[in-house]
Amino acid sequence: MRKPYIAGNWKMNMAPSEGRAFASALLDAVKESGADVKMMVAPPFVTIPAVLEVLKDSPIIVAAQNMADHDKGAYTGEVSPLFLLDLGVNTVILGHSERRQYYGETNESINRKILLALSHSMDVVYCIGETLEERESGKLEEVLSAQLEVGLKDVKSEDMKHITIAYEPVWAIGTGKTATPEDAESAHEFIRKTVQSLFSKDIAENLIIQYGGSVKANNVKALMAKENIDGALVGGASLSVADFLPILTFDK
Ligand code: PGA
Repeated sequence: MRKPYIAGNWKMNMAPSEGRAFASALLDAVKESGADVKMMVAPPFVTIPAVLEVLKDSPIIVAAQNMADHDKGAYTGEVSPLFLLDLGVNTVILGHSERRQYYGETNESINRKILLALSHSMDVVYCIGETLEERESGKLEEVLSAQLEVGLKDVKSEDMKHITIAYEPVWAIGTGKTATPEDAESAHEFIRKTVQSLFSKDIAENLIIQYGGSVKANNVKALMAKENIDGALVGGASLSVADFLPILTFDK
């Protein structure tokens, strides 16, 4: 049985003071709602400490949106996984399409980060997904296969329990266009089959695969009803309690 996992990626929104106030309002709303899915929010690095003050010891996991591919040294502007662990952050989103598109991250560089995070027993939400051009030219499966094969290269089977996959078609992110539940389901099914061939049936069956890309209160139920969709990675709609709470309580 795969427990639904709903995550909010705040991207470059919410200064520390805003993040603290928002986390507090979200926690109050979540407590009253009886939401019992696995919940996570990923604030910007500098906002993490303020959010942790509120969410430490709460059911809402606080994650980072990225991390360096080294533990320490002369890497100006980077944030070490050790610094995250020192704060008490044990979960990191890696390979988000905005990191790939704007900051030159590749399957290979993301693989280095994944292996480093796993070496510290951190939990990883690994984002994959195709661009519109790739989808329209019939390359969906080729792209997803490469993202899984290269991104998860040298990951040990016993570490796969730390990996969540987020399938985010790039053309659906922040655009208001959601993949239809059927399109998303067929990509998720392909991802699960690929993970089965790379690892094992057992690992594939237990793998949580989130869908991301314009998830909102009005489409979450139809998406979550699909057999292979186990959660959501939410951007825009995670920035207000009114929008995010109905997603967290989609099954109520
Ligand atoms: P969106 O972002 O929900 O605003 O489309 C999703 C994401 O990029 O994780």
